[in-house]
Amino acid sequence: MKQPLNANLLSPLLVVLIGAVVDGRPNYMVVGYVAPFDFGKHIFFSLYKKRYTHQGIMENKTFSVNIPNELLLAEINICGSTSGRDVDKSTLFDTFYGGLKTAPMIRQCPIAIGCELHDTLDYGENVGIIGRVVKSYVDQKYLHDGNLDFREIRPIIWATGGDFNYYGLGNRVVRR
Ligand SMILES: Cc1cc2nc3c(=O)[nH]c(=O)nc-3n(C[C@H](O)[C@H](O)[C@H](O)COP(=O)(O)O)c2cc1C
Repeated sequence: MKQPLNANLLSPLLVVLIGAVVDGRPNYMVVGYVAPFDFGKHIFFSLYKKRYTHQGIMENKTFSVNIPNELLLAEINICGSTSGRDVDKSTLFDTFYGGLKTAPMIRQCPIAIGCELHDTLDYGENVGIIGRVVKSYVDQKYLHDGNLDFREIRPIIWATGGDFNYYGLGNRVVRR
């Protein structure tokens, strides 16, 4: 028998670090409510307006989406529990920039994506951010003849809807 739950069980989700320049320096925060949109050409995520990151994205109209791996759990815990208003998170990582000079990206993350703010959806206390993907960056060591194997990247998966733990990526079920 199926048990109805008052929860959104569209889960698990990818844990990412959103990078933005705020008050002249890079800031990084954890976001779990994130998804590709427009068949990959855009990225959508949910952002509370009170986040320090919100200020930077609204000012510069750019941000980055970084995919951390399991080796960065300590830094992830800091970025998901402290605000750049109180703690300088710019020194947690080495920052690099691509073409977008106000979209700070994390060298330690296997993947970093530079985005331009395309649109926002106002939901009161929070806002839906829609970014246009400008360029993605990946460490060369994960590329094999132009192909990526995400098991090597070891992304962190966040189970929502009543679980709220972090998981690793499981086994490959189809080989292409
Ligand atoms: C697993 C996890 C997922 C999170 N997802 C979101 C999210 O989707 N949107 C959001 O606004 N905050 C989210 N947060 C909370 C922010 O990361 C946290 O409030 C952070 O300290 C904000 O940093 P800032 O004030 O420097 O921007 C999440 C935190 C964790 C640990």
